[in-house]
This record gives sequence, structure tokens and C-alpha cells, in this order.
Amino acid sequence: MTVHFIGAGPGAPDLITVRGLRLIERCTVCLYAGSLVPREIVAAAPLGARVIDTAPLTLDEIIAEIETAHRDGAEVARVHSGDPSIYGAIAEQMRRLDRLGIPYDVTPGVPAFAAAAAALRRELTLPSVAQTVVLTRTATRSSEMPERESLERFAGTSATLAIHLSIANLARVVRELLPFYGSDCPVVVAYRVSWPDERLIRGTLADIRVQVKAAGITRTALILVGPALAGEGGTDSRLYAGDHHHVLRPRRSAG
Ligand SMILES: C[S@@+](CC[C@H](N)C(=O)[O-])C[C@H]1O[C@@H](n2cnc3c(N)ncnc32)[C@H](O)[C@@H]1O
Repeated sequence: MTVHFIGAGPGAPDLITVRGLRLIERCTVCLYAGSLVPREIVAAAPLGARVIDTAPLTLDEIIAEIETAHRDGAEVARVHSGDPSIYGAIAEQMRRLDRLGIPYDVTPGVPAFAAAAAALRRELTLPSVAQTVVLTRTATRSSEMPERESLERFAGTSATLAIHLSIANLARVVRELLPFYGSDCPVVVAYRVSWPDERLIRGTLADIRVQVKAAGITRTALILVGPALAGEGGTDSRLYAGDHHHVLRPRRSAG
């Protein structure tokens, strides 16, 4: 028996990986994070499977479900939104499973930031504009930030920032980034990317707050900030340059 941690992707039922879906189809126990994992994905569980939304459960209750499944020899699909390695709260589950001697594996998923870039049709790493993406968040009442991971520290570069779990802190995000990125820096607030009610609000550090307030967005949104979002400027990547040769495209001999 194995517990399979599975990334469900950002929301659209066809953005889960083939591997993830195959695992759900064969597991007779399916525990899913109901706030962000769509019902259509867990509907793929086999007929008669025990399918539980873990949103209202505590960690102890989730582990108790897994222990019961383990005793019964049942395979468990543990389905998280996006990719489970980012703000997935899988570390504490894996620690408990290690202690209990219950085996597990992890299947990655499409993270929200990648789905947002796709919806925007943007590359987040534009040569000579931004070559780094920072996946971060801000502190909330329930989660502190490590002291050295302040937004100001990341903002000292022109990196593209993908700020999670922070739409309620938008005013603070804007205030802290303005001195570094400038008021005309592009910002996108991507709400429920890939869901039927997806919204992409494009603005700048100067006007994004007003736009987001008018749209009434208060949850499940990613804040993307950085000059690369403009999609302008920058140079071509060297990867396909005619005068750049490498092992898969060696210099052609003349004649
Ligand atoms: C608990 S975290 C989960 C992140 C997820 N593991 C991932 O890989 O994207 C939830 C936060 O991720 C972002 N998020 C997740 N799904 C999203 C979506 N479909 N559209 C926009 N933002 C999303 C939001 O910032 C949300 O507050």
C-alpha cells in the first residue's frame, strides 16, 4: 500500500498529469483539498471509492484516514492543488507517514504560476529583462514569514515575482514594491486561473489596487509583478541563435 501525493493542477480538469489521473482512477481511497481541487478530477476515483474533502479536517484526522486505509491495504490518492511542492502542506503529512512507516510517493502538477503565465501568453524569464522567478508569499495571521524573506529583499532585483496567498495584502505588496519596481511596473492579478470564472486583471503598481477592488477579488489569486510581464524589450534567447552551436546543433561544415 502506498500514499500517492498528487498535484491536481490549477483547476481545469484536463490540466492534471496523465500519471496523476491514472493513480486517482485506481485508488480506492481519495483524500482531496476541496477548496482548490475540482470535483471533476476526484470523480475519476473508482466506483465505491472513499472520497473525502479534507478542507474541514485536521492533520490528525487526515492521518487517521490514511492509517485506516493502510490497515485495510487500500491505495490512497492524496490530491493537492497545483503542484504539491509549493504551499502544499505535504511536509507535515510526509513526516507523520515516515514515523508510521507508511510508504508514499509524489506526482507533480501544473502550478498556478505556470498556468497564469500560459493564460497570459507570457514568458516569465525574458533574456536581459528578468532571468529569475521568485515564488513567494506574504505573512498572514496564520503564517509568519522567515525574517530574511521580506518582499523588499526580493525586490532588489528585476526578477518576476509570483506572490501567492496574498491578495488580502495587496496594499502592503504595492507599498513595499513601489520604491524598487516603479509605479509603471506591470502587475497581473490572476484569479482562479483555468477555472470557468478565471479573471486576469492587468495593470501597474500604480493602478492595480483600484482595479482589483472594483473586480471584487478577495481570494484564490496570484499576484505577478515584474517588467517581463510587459512581454516587450529584451533580446532573443541564444538557444536558437544561428551562430550558437552545441552538441545537438554542431557547426555545419561548409560545402
Ligand atoms: C495553498 S496555495 C497552493 C499553491 C499550489 N500548490 C500551486 O502549485 O500553485 C494557494 C494559493 O495559490 C495560488 N493559486 C492556486 N491556484 C490558483 C489558481 N487556479 N489561480 C490563481 N491562483 C491560484 C493563490 O495565490 C492561492 O492563494
